Amino acid sequence: MKMLNVINGPQNVSRIILGCMRMPALNVQQAAEMISTAAELGINFFDHATCYSDGEAETRFGDAFPLTGLKREDVVIQSKCGLHFDRREFDWSKEDILASVDGSLERLKTDHLDVLLLHRPDVLYDPCEVAEAFDKLYREGKVIHFGVSNVPPMQIELLKRYVAQPLIFNQLQLSLDQSQLIDAALYVNNLTTERSVDRDNGLLDYCRLHDITIQAWSPLQIGMFKGCFVDHPDFPELNAVLARLGEKYGVSKTAVAIAWILRHPAKMQAIAGTMDPGHLRNICGAAKVELTHHEWYELYLASGKFLP
Ligand SMILES: NC(=O)c1ccc[n+]([C@@H]2O[C@H](COP(=O)([O-])OP(=O)(O)OC[C@H]3O[C@@H](n4cnc5c(N)ncnc54)[C@H](OP(=O)(O)O)[C@@H]3O)[C@@H](O)[C@H]2O)c1
Repeated sequence: MKMLNVINGPQNVSRIILGCMRMPALNVQQAAEMISTAAELGINFFDHATCYSDGEAETRFGDAFPLTGLKREDVVIQSKCGLHFDRREFDWSKEDILASVDGSLERLKTDHLDVLLLHRPDVLYDPCEVAEAFDKLYREGKVIHFGVSNVPPMQIELLKRYVAQPLIFNQLQLSLDQSQLIDAALYVNNLTTERSVDRDNGLLDYCRLHDITIQAWSPLQIGMFKGCFVDHPDFPELNAVLARLGEKYGVSKTAVAIAWILRHPAKMQAIAGTMDPGHLRNICGAAKVELTHHEWYELYLASGKFLP
């Protein structure tokens, strides 16, 4: 496994994270096997959110973890708060952050979260309230590190003015299909393509400048949860390059797709969401791959882009 010392954050963490959003599809025994397989493969980082199946993902993990024999201190447990699809609103109020963390700790059966992320911007938020919530959680030992998800540069700037703790992660969508985080910089000032539109105010470079580690969510997905592009008939050119490079490195196509994210010099983590131990084994082949500069571009272009 490729490991990472996160700036201002946890040390020696895996570059591949197991995303637990889909864990409610497993029973407790299967979930324990999934966590154990991840650990065998060198994954020591697990991603959650209060909104994943309304807390059920955290509950399943909390019930399964004791069956694995793993020690709590050997893993990093991250959760996210603020997204309330049930209430049809996002909420970063102090009251909501504190209540969310207490709920997560109870469901995960742990006394602390290693990392708490604010999940998606609540446009009505008051940064003073976030700061008060983070201070209390940190002081009480309930949360060690803090970060954000899907949050653009100026909102991070505003938060940073009030929040005492470093914001160490930004969890963002990135895959060979959904590469908008990267596209705008390549197609800069180009009127011939929508890809030149800067949709996030230079978020990738902002994160690099401010020591914020990017965690790539849905690294194998087409669009928003439209399925996996590996072996998908709509992506013949991409699959041909994935297959050729997979053969070269002796790994699966999914491993090459994940290696494409890990090859970026921003030293991102990739969050794998599979709940199939065999698929996870294949994905972790990415740890053996160091794509060349040319291969990275070859994959990017094969996913439907062009050189401007
Ligand atoms: N911050 C946010 O806003 C946000 C949003 C969404 C997700 N997330 C996080 O990101 C994690 C990953 O998201 P995701 O599950 O959408 O991402 P993903 O890992 O890109 O996609 C997983 C899908 O790919 C399939 N897959 C994997 N390997 C395959 C293979 N070899 N052949 C065929 N299908 C394969 C999986 O099916 P199988 O299970 O059958 O393998 C699953 O349906 C989530 O668990 C969550 O932690 C964060």
